[in-house]
Amino acid sequence: MKVLVYSTRSYDRTHFDALENGLFTFEYVEDELNIDTAELAKGAFAVCIFVNDDASAPVIEKLAAYGVRGIAIRAAGHDQTDKEAAHKFGMHVANVPSYSPHSIAEHTVTLLTALSRHIVEADARVKQYNFNLEPLVGFNLHHKKVGIIGVGKIGGITAKILHGFGCELLGFDPFPKEEYTKQYNLRYTTLEEIYQVADIIVIQAPLNAHTKYLINKTSIAAMKDGVVIINTGRGGVINTQDVIDGLASGKIGALGIDVYEKEKGLFFYDHSANKTVDPLFDRLLAFKNVLITGHMAFLTTNALTSISRTTLANLSSWHKGEAAENEL
Ligand code: NAI
Repeated sequence: MKVLVYSTRSYDRTHFDALENGLFTFEYVEDELNIDTAELAKGAFAVCIFVNDDASAPVIEKLAAYGVRGIAIRAAGHDQTDKEAAHKFGMHVANVPSYSPHSIAEHTVTLLTALSRHIVEADARVKQYNFNLEPLVGFNLHHKKVGIIGVGKIGGITAKILHGFGCELLGFDPFPKEEYTKQYNLRYTTLEEIYQVADIIVIQAPLNAHTKYLINKTSIAAMKDGVVIINTGRGGVINTQDVIDGLASGKIGALGIDVYEKEKGLFFYDHSANKTVDPLFDRLLAFKNVLITGHMAFLTTNALTSISRTTLANLSSWHKGEAAENEL
């Protein structure tokens, strides 16, 4: 039984091929799922997609017409998929809600610590035999006030790690969890207080109608001068132009992002032969106090193993005619 895996990279293939699986034949394409590539899934039992694939209503309609019965998202974020449309066409949808929240939390802290100690610039200098330390003065995380927006599985682990650094933790989440307050001394508060007092703001919320462009001109104006912003949630939570203005004025002291609002078609590909693909992104790259990784917080062996196993479990449930444990 065929499962077409879109947006495949070598590491996906390695982990899916390693599964003990007598039921499904995984076929891999590098192409993203979209209205033009949907027909590649003709005859497949299900498709397996990633964060930047397009499973909007018109694409789903096409997939349904080709007999596809399920969309297995090999990611936690599912904003790329129109769930209502899928249900209308009788298709299953499932994601992998938790594969290794530690991977993303650790990457978040990596971005933060690298920025706090100018690690990228320091390494570049040493490689040039330049040991001048003048511009590399950093700051401690100890005793810094960190506001975490979206304190879910990943945000909770980030809180744990930062608690270890001795940070003072604030959180904003519509569903506060008492355990984080008890264990990591995280105090839930309003977004307004976070903007007002946080030295560092970490975004680990999903993209939804409430979080779209949460970080914009107005919220940035309410933040502390020199605030450090880290986003490993979703790119659309930040208005990039407004953040560029904040960086240019010095209001924002540093920015670390693993996600970018216009990453679709940009991230996950090698554009080195044609660098001028995105002028907005180029402006971000021009700042020395901006550190960007291309949506790779999930990219650990631990996470990939867990993703492939859970995806197989989701598909197997559908094959048995049951809803998956992670049905959406
Ligand atoms: P989760 O569902 O455990 O946590 C999300 C938290 O955000 C929940 O506690 C929820 O109540 C909260 N939330 C919802 N709406 C909010 C709002 N308007 N303001 C503040 N908080 C809000 O999900 P998890 O596993 O912690 O993942 C969080 C996000 O991280 C995902 O939605 C995904 O977008 C992103 N992610 C990024 C990855 C990467 O590689 N960069 C990998 C995996 C996830």
